[in-house]
Amino acid sequence: MIGSARAYSNIAFIKYWGNRDDTLRLALNGSISMNLAGLETITTVEFSSDLEQDQLSINGSDQSEGALARVSAHLDHFRRRAAIDLRASVRSTNNFPAGTGVASSASAFAALAVAADSALELHMSEKELSMYARLGSGSACRSIPAGFVEWYAGPDDASSFAESLAPPEHWNLVDLVAIVSREHKAVGSTGGHKVAPTSPLQGARVADAQRRIDWCREALLRRDFNALAEVIELDALMMHAVMMTSKPTLLYWTPATLGLIEAVRQWREKDGLPVAFTIDAGPNVHVITEASFAEEIAEGLRALPTVQEVLSGRPGGAATAIDTHLRAS
Ligand code: PMV
Repeated sequence: MIGSARAYSNIAFIKYWGNRDDTLRLALNGSISMNLAGLETITTVEFSSDLEQDQLSINGSDQSEGALARVSAHLDHFRRRAAIDLRASVRSTNNFPAGTGVASSASAFAALAVAADSALELHMSEKELSMYARLGSGSACRSIPAGFVEWYAGPDDASSFAESLAPPEHWNLVDLVAIVSREHKAVGSTGGHKVAPTSPLQGARVADAQRRIDWCREALLRRDFNALAEVIELDALMMHAVMMTSKPTLLYWTPATLGLIEAVRQWREKDGLPVAFTIDAGPNVHVITEASFAEEIAEGLRALPTVQEVLSGRPGGAATAIDTHLRAS
């Protein structure tokens, strides 16, 4: 029983930070994102009676402990659903360089969910795949549907899933990921979600989230870049304000991060370019622009001495099952 899938990473325009239920990964607030074609994971899952335990390889290197335990726990949901007790071998490859701070968990758990569904012939709906992907990593539920996506936080498991707001062709946006550090972050997002409630600002961020979601959704549907820029920067800064004021303090920025924020604002406000920033749980800056300006902006980013590399993602499609001949090695 074998299945393979491809899923794209995604960048959140309205961020998910903090859960009402950490085990089920039920978010405290809804979020909106864009799938990133160009930054993808391909995963093959093979269930077999020959295996005594689950196996995991990522980019050709065998994993044990943390990563393997998380993948095994995720496969357990599928084993329960299919009423089987077979162990599986999971082979996964990312086409984006390791250690660049680009979140691989979204594309990884979306690809794992679709590959497991395909291997076990469960024929889950997109909604169910999104719910199952969410159990592995919250943001992974947004990598299941195509293009521009909204995750409804829901009050419970069945109502917490993502849906497409618009297909990838809706708007030629580009995410230029300016890499300023490849260091492994001290506290990852799973740990970060747990400490979010310790910030006195988290309540205000969550209470205002629906307003920002509506604002962002409208800006996306109208292709209004200035409105999008305003809301995504506000939302990213609110999340980082929560991070910085939680216990322990999570300060992901470096001086290079701040330099990029200033550069992006200058390009937009002084030079009139359609460009905006957003930042996840790390120091690297996602610079959002329109495709026709992407080359000019990427050159501007590469010219900054703090920028080591610029990765690029354009609006991507849904996570899909692929022929196992193309499978991850
Ligand atoms: O899905 P997780 O647990 O890796 O959390 C993602 C958290 C952020 O990337 C910071 C925000 C988001 O909505 O993607």
